[in-house]
Amino acid sequence: MSKPITPYRDSEASKKEQVAKMFNNISGTYDFLNHFLSLGIDIIWRKMAIRELLEDKPRHILDVATGTGDFAFESIKILKPEKITGVDISEGMLAIANEKILKRNLQGIFEVSLGDSEKLLFDDSQFDAVTVAYGVRNFEDLEKGLSDMLRVLKPSGKVVILEFSKPKVFPVKQAYDFYFKYITPSIGKLFSKDASAYSYLPESVAAFPDGKEFSELMKKVGFQNTKRRPLTFGICSIYTGTK
Ligand SMILES: C[S@@+](CC[C@H](N)C(=O)[O-])C[C@H]1O[C@@H](n2cnc3c(N)ncnc32)[C@H](O)[C@@H]1O
Repeated sequence: MSKPITPYRDSEASKKEQVAKMFNNISGTYDFLNHFLSLGIDIIWRKMAIRELLEDKPRHILDVATGTGDFAFESIKILKPEKITGVDISEGMLAIANEKILKRNLQGIFEVSLGDSEKLLFDDSQFDAVTVAYGVRNFEDLEKGLSDMLRVLKPSGKVVILEFSKPKVFPVKQAYDFYFKYITPSIGKLFSKDASAYSYLPESVAAFPDGKEFSELMKKVGFQNTKRRPLTFGICSIYTGTK
């Protein structure tokens, strides 16, 4: 089996340990670089993904790999749920999420805790919806992560997954490859404490199953009604499925 793509090539630590360390290192500049590198389009992609849940009106949502909480904050604005629970393996990212929760006075609605998406500490069938933005690509065991998200969903509950994908059409593919390979790592190196994080980003996207392949994986673990929606020429994709 080929070696998984990890942030620190010379490290012997597991992918999960390396990913947690990397996000701890970059947590302070994560939000700024996200918006800067995507020219703010990441905000629009998040909104479009959350709107997939408008008709479902979920009351209790689990936001997996919640990071600094931006996907969950978008859910709160658009869906007005009773409660959102966020889990993440990076204490640094969660510390920023907690600062934002306090600043926005959302303590009663949004709670975050340290937790592994591949071993969720929740009973079966608890959540009306599960969301995850830019998280699944970082999982050590993708199938396990997807299966556990399915397990904690209520019957008929919906999962919404937002993740980078690979554009296929000329010249978007060429421009995207250039931007991701050269511009992203250089800007990342300049502003973030961890240069590896922004070389890991394009490498992990390149190695990650996207499009039909990802939908097939969702079906394999048991999701039904799987759908995929490419955004901005396929730079990103929204995947949905139900239990
Ligand atoms: C690119 S950030 C995305 C954060 C947030 N969802 C957003 O939209 O900005 C990926 C997050 O996934 C988390 N993560 C990676 N693997 C995880 C796992 N197995 N369990 C929980 N969180 C994980 C990382 O710590 C990181 O905070």
